[in-house]
Amino acid sequence: MTFGEQAEREFAEILTRYPDKRSALLPSLHLVQREQGYLSPPAMEEVARRLNLQPVEVLQVATFYTWFNLKPVGRHRLQVCHNLSCTLVGAERIIATLEEELKIGENETTPDGLFTLQRVECLASCGTAPMMQVNEDYHENLTPEKVRALLAQWRAAANGR
Ligand code: FES
Repeated sequence: MTFGEQAEREFAEILTRYPDKRSALLPSLHLVQREQGYLSPPAMEEVARRLNLQPVEVLQVATFYTWFNLKPVGRHRLQVCHNLSCTLVGAERIIATLEEELKIGENETTPDGLFTLQRVECLASCGTAPMMQVNEDYHENLTPEKVRALLAQWRAAANGR
């Protein structure tokens, strides 16, 4: 598999920061995910080849962090924390609202490719629970109303409104 021109430039720049190529694994995986949306097996093999790692070493890291997608996800990846602090203040209601509004279950993607719903472990934002991470942004102190408003906003943006 090949990287795009911009990704090639970024990859070369990442390598300049790490005298030991193997240490560039995490930023390389971030780069691939940003480029392609997820880490496909050929992409992980390519990263392994470029960093002189075994494919299984790359896979171990990719599967350790919930941040990495191992299969295609929607444009908005909704990762709802379901650990104690969030659960105590309504995480289950947030998840139920999302399931109801999106008509999908956990680890599913809406047919229009806009949303993927996932349940994740603590995202270190317990003081502003309940919360979810959507791509690179945190949405905190959630209520069902806030969730519906966010979905409406993302749907409107997708429809160019
Ligand atoms: S328990 Fe939800 S962010 Fe920590």
